[in-house]
Amino acid sequence: MSPSWYRHLYETVGPVLIEAAAIQARVRELGAQITDDYRGRIPHLIGILRGASIFHADLVRSIDLGISLDFIAVGSYGASTFSSGEVRILKDLDESLEGKDVLLVEDIVDTGLTLHYLLQNLQARDPGSLRVVALLNKPSRRKIEVQLDYVGFEIPDQFVVGYGLDYNQRYRNLPDICVLNPGRPPHGGPGRDSETG
Ligand code: IMP
Ligand code: MG
Repeated sequence: MSPSWYRHLYETVGPVLIEAAAIQARVRELGAQITDDYRGRIPHLIGILRGASIFHADLVRSIDLGISLDFIAVGSYGASTFSSGEVRILKDLDESLEGKDVLLVEDIVDTGLTLHYLLQNLQARDPGSLRVVALLNKPSRRKIEVQLDYVGFEIPDQFVVGYGLDYNQRYRNLPDICVLNPGRPPHGGPGRDSETG
């Protein structure tokens, strides 16, 4: 990684909320917990594109079991209707879920609307079990209750970027999780309109 790019980035994005080393340690803990809970089974880890891709890649390697994986991409119908929870599938799963021990991997749960929709959609595909692992949870913004089986970190109501999370598709490759422009949270901004992942 270019040091000049890195320096520029940190001038733009503001303070580090969770350092890379703390993220890595917590992902290893989640992997160990999932390993214990799924012993004797083969969890099927579904990453929600694009935000959860980095977390998903690290998490699957911290699970000491055979696993299978798949990806799904979702989008909203636009900022105005997003609060209604209407979500559309931009890229569907490649495989059937029938009888599988599905673990849905999300980057961050904010209002809960995306996850609520996805859980209903996936449950209808007859998985053997269905659980959720979310790296970040912003409980103060919840609009609908969703059960999170594994959570990496609870964070305050701040817009964060890095470790897969973006603003306008940028900052996903930042190894830390940082607050974006503190004092000017871009909720409802252009980064959230068409693609929620
Ligand atoms: P929800 O449907 O409101 O729970 O929104 C979930 C999606 O919004 C996440 O999967 C993210 O893609 C996006 N999102 C919510 N909060 C943030 C944030 O602080 N930074 C980046 N993306 C976010
Ligand atoms: Mg997401």
